[in-house]
Amino acid sequence: MAAVDDIKSRLDIVDIVSETVNLRRSGKNYTGFCPFHTNTKTPAFVVFPDTQTWRCFGQCGEGGDLFNFVMKREGWDFSEALRSLADRAGVTLEEFTPEEQEKAEENEHLREILSMAVTFFQHQLRNTQAGKEALDYLYQRKLTDETIDIFTLGYAPDSWDTLTNYMGSRDITEEELLNAGLVSKRDSGGVYDRFRHRLVIPIRDHRGRMAGFGGRVLRPDDVPKYLNTPNTAVFDKGRLLYGLDMARREIRSKDQVVIVEGYLDVIGPYQAGFKNCVSPMGTALTEEQFRLIKRYSRKIILALDPDAAGQKATLRGLQTARQTLDREGEVLFDARGLMQVEGRLRADIRVTTLPGGLDPDEVALEDADHWARLIKDAKPVVIHVMETLAARDDIDDPKAKEEVANQVLPLIEDIRGSVEREAYRQRLARVLKVDERALVRRSSIPTSRRQRGYKPPVALPDLPATSAGGATRRLEETCIKALTDDPTRIHFVNRAFRGYELACLHPFDFTQTDFREIFKLLTASLEQDQEDPLDFVRKHIPEPLMDVIDKNTLEDIYPDWRFQPNAPSLESLVNMFIRLRRIRIDEGLDQLVFLQSQEQTESEDKTLEFKKIVLEHIEVRAKLDQALRQSFSYGKHQN
Ligand code: UTP
Ligand code: MN
Repeated sequence: MAAVDDIKSRLDIVDIVSETVNLRRSGKNYTGFCPFHTNTKTPAFVVFPDTQTWRCFGQCGEGGDLFNFVMKREGWDFSEALRSLADRAGVTLEEFTPEEQEKAEENEHLREILSMAVTFFQHQLRNTQAGKEALDYLYQRKLTDETIDIFTLGYAPDSWDTLTNYMGSRDITEEELLNAGLVSKRDSGGVYDRFRHRLVIPIRDHRGRMAGFGGRVLRPDDVPKYLNTPNTAVFDKGRLLYGLDMARREIRSKDQVVIVEGYLDVIGPYQAGFKNCVSPMGTALTEEQFRLIKRYSRKIILALDPDAAGQKATLRGLQTARQTLDREGEVLFDARGLMQVEGRLRADIRVTTLPGGLDPDEVALEDADHWARLIKDAKPVVIHVMETLAARDDIDDPKAKEEVANQVLPLIEDIRGSVEREAYRQRLARVLKVDERALVRRSSIPTSRRQRGYKPPVALPDLPATSAGGATRRLEETCIKALTDDPTRIHFVNRAFRGYELACLHPFDFTQTDFREIFKLLTASLEQDQEDPLDFVRKHIPEPLMDVIDKNTLEDIYPDWRFQPNAPSLESLVNMFIRLRRIRIDEGLDQLVFLQSQEQTESEDKTLEFKKIVLEHIEVRAKLDQALRQSFSYGKHQN
């Protein structure tokens, strides 16, 4: 959408319309004869520079923004209009080139091969003697047949070529197998199966498309303990989270995600009824992974193994993992890095520590209540670090106190809210049993010294500056975003609207063409039942509009939407849509008033017609106002 915003801020609808329509200035606005139908005597076509919109009050009754004007004029679809206007505005679009298209098809083929491998490994697990050992291992870990099938777990036989041969018999070439990461190259030429005598865990992306495998040893002495698919065109550890395809619904409905450390720590809790866990794959969490999660929930809990090495910050687990990776653009997720991410993504990141020696899969399968308690007791990062550090044996030693303060204070000072900061400082003073003033004084050390060696993360660009019509665009964006986060909200809003005797949501609730296009797609996604609505939208959305779904979430645009006083979130959503329509109606009335001031000689018929339209507008406005009042008081009763 950045591109659409950019284009709109650089082009003026008046200029573009003037190319083919003779416009006459009239007050703030411009009038002319509508180019889309044969003209009558009165110029019923109006361009509004303030909102950068147009409307025909005559025969065709249409209206919209720059984009749909050009679409109508040239007979283009949205993508064509976008390309042409981008060109004029000097905005570069990121688009699929033919090469990229080809790449996408190749990737699709790789995923098919991986799916064939899943079937092969499942067969090996269920129907072979050797597979029985792996199956018994899974039973021993308390997993049920149902769980094993849900996660499509399998067994890779103890052989160098069984998979290669099987695939060969199905016309899959060695090169394709290499590209899929299923085999490795022999020095002497040829290939051999990568996964041998391992339990294999299929890894899918958040849409459920196959990406790769993790293979666990069955013989304790084999190394490495887990062998993963190498980086391939469809497997990039930094961009995937194991289990997200299974967990995303629950993450959304619970509004909470738990990040655990391993594959089986996702599977165990799932079987125990906690279906909101995901894990990285032996590497540190990347900011990209956090962004992926954020689409579903911002309440993120890290469930980490206790740090065996000592009483240092438990977050180290993630940190060490990172050192083995060290790719460019990797963010260091020590406590401080985590808090930065938390601030940037407006997330709520908490940490819970597992009891010594136990993994989530053991805890959850052993004692579900215990797992629930651990999750409930998760603490904000600062507190977690504070308490972990202060748990050292020598904490009564002034030197130890000094060290702990040195580590925790920089974290506290990063916090933006002054009240929160103060509360943490007091807490630290209590934990260390020192006078709080001692801590305050220390924090006056210039930040440059404290932060030496610390590279602040790159700030995210702000939302595009609002241009003419920016305010409308912003509200429309908020509304459309609320729907792209979850298309089924359309049903909810419509149901509420019907209750208020308002017409259902309609593309024309939006003036911006890109939002109209998205709205139509969202409606279509609800009318099919082949796939998840969001997947459907992703598949069909024009590439340049993709970032409406990906870049911002609703809270980025409108941080407070969930938190209106006394209003449950969905109710505040309805509220937002009522306000959108209220603005639309007011605009319409303003436009009608303007139009009336334009009409000089009026026939009786026309005046009547005009009055009727104005009355209709007023009637709808009254209903909207009533709905607004009711939806507020509904919110109050809820509490
Ligand atoms: P762990 O060693 O903690 O294993 O690695 P785990 O998940 O508890 O597995 P079980 O319970 O012993 O079977 C945590 C995660 O780190 C990655 C894997 O994703 C694993 O699930 N890992 C670990 C690797 O990628 N390679 C390794 O050699 C080890
Ligand atoms: Mn484990």
